[in-house]
Amino acid sequence: MDRADLLRLAEEARGRAYAPYSGFRVGAALVDAEGRVFCGSNVENASYGATLCAERVAVAAAVSAGARRVTTIVIRSDAPEPVAPCGLCRQVLAEFGTDMNVISMGPNGSAEWTLQELLPEPFGPGDLPRTTGENSEGIESK
Ligand code: THU
Repeated sequence: MDRADLLRLAEEARGRAYAPYSGFRVGAALVDAEGRVFCGSNVENASYGATLCAERVAVAAAVSAGARRVTTIVIRSDAPEPVAPCGLCRQVLAEFGTDMNVISMGPNGSAEWTLQELLPEPFGPGDLPRTTGENSEGIESK
């Protein structure tokens, strides 16, 4: 699966966006540590705050299929400048790979970052104090 395939999948996911309120349609395609690809589209809601961004929908699809690490996410919108993920999505993405590559594509070109650049100081699982020292995901606390 090369970058062109991922861009095509993100574009197809954009075509499935449910965005009747903003009209701003977004698609995302991510790759997990096993090389599997999962897609998401933004899912808006009449109660606007319940809206889900395409990136978080893709993460939910991946994690619910068993993925625990994301290496790359490709975002496709029709904004004149390629969009960077919102703050909430950056935090959600950081849970599954602070060093992931984030690629964004619009009609006029692409932009690329690492998640570390977009969210240099994430709140992470290691910040949570735990009595057991390790949770069911095997994540060590600090
Ligand atoms: N949106 C995304 O899906 N991803 C982004 O990176 C930016 C924003 C969605 C949320 C909402 O449905 C619409 O775009 C306008 O904010």
